[in-house]
Amino acid sequence: MYFIELNNGVEIPQIGMGMAAIGSWQQDDGFVTEVILKAMAIGYRHFDTASLYGNERALGRAIKESGIPRSELFITSKVWDTEQGGKKTHDAFARSLERLKLEYLDLYLIQWPVPAYTRETWEAMEGLYQQKKVRALGVSNFRKSDIEQIASFAEVRPVINQIELHPYFTQQPLVDYCQFHKIAISCWSPLGTGGWAEVPLAEKPIMDPVIAEIAEKHSATPAQVILKWNIQQHRIVIPKSESLEHIGTNFLLSDFNLSNSDIQSINNLNCNKRLGGDPDYVHKKNITLKVPD
Ligand SMILES: NC(=O)c1ccc[n+]([C@@H]2O[C@H](COP(=O)([O-])OP(=O)(O)OC[C@H]3O[C@@H](n4cnc5c(N)ncnc54)[C@H](OP(=O)(O)O)[C@@H]3O)[C@@H](O)[C@H]2O)c1
Repeated sequence: MYFIELNNGVEIPQIGMGMAAIGSWQQDDGFVTEVILKAMAIGYRHFDTASLYGNERALGRAIKESGIPRSELFITSKVWDTEQGGKKTHDAFARSLERLKLEYLDLYLIQWPVPAYTRETWEAMEGLYQQKKVRALGVSNFRKSDIEQIASFAEVRPVINQIELHPYFTQQPLVDYCQFHKIAISCWSPLGTGGWAEVPLAEKPIMDPVIAEIAEKHSATPAQVILKWNIQQHRIVIPKSESLEHIGTNFLLSDFNLSNSDIQSINNLNCNKRLGGDPDYVHKKNITLKVPD
């Protein structure tokens, strides 16, 4: 398994399982638990959920049923826009723990920047960190200006910025800025989004002929090539899959290494094509989405 050491010394498995819309959006039933248990049997120990995904209970059940020691798992959840603020964040975190039936989280993220609330939200998270209810704090979809804002008052530095990152949207200046400041990059929608985004398959980087050619050269799948492109550049990946075959191949990446020229060819595919929400505009829509109980 590949690991990255975060800036507070905590280790995170570089490959995790994305949990948005397993089955369907906000599905939280036995099917989701079964998918997670299969992933655990293959070796996944890192799971990326969020209050908004509405499947924290299914993950909690899988953790219990698996019998895997808690210390071997890395569990991330996130605070949604409507849960930001001092007390609201405190309460949202407590609800996530309750749904997951856990005593602590490994990582808690602000899912989207809401600058008017960032300070209150982060200070509430710092309180949880001091109480050892969470091992690491991070952000998601933060722009350079949002990170500068946090840096102006934070006592606990963010360890991660989880951002949309795939071959068509590499966000290199933001990645360089974060990595320079020892904020690790976690790539959401590394394969070009799941069903929630309704992006046609033909438009996803996983279908790109350049990726297909590199995959053929290494006897790998296109998804493996994209994931390895991230791993070799010290980024964390959280592909979502509910297919046993994909769950397996997405995790097994050690049989090949990309050359520098492969990496450069994939970098060159960047066309600044955002497939998910834009932090400049998405808050208006986010506040219309309901976090399920
Ligand atoms: N922080 C944020 O704001 C944010 C936003 C979006 C997502 N995320 C996180 O990032 C995770 C991943 O992103 P995502 O779910 O949007 O999409 P993704 O992981 O880029 O892609 C998932 C899609 O690819 C398919 N797939 C998976 N493995 C494959 C393979 N080996 N070959 C072909 N197709 C494959 C899946 O179908 P099958 O299930 O059939 O395999 C699914 O349709 C999310 O689940 C969530 O945890 C975070």
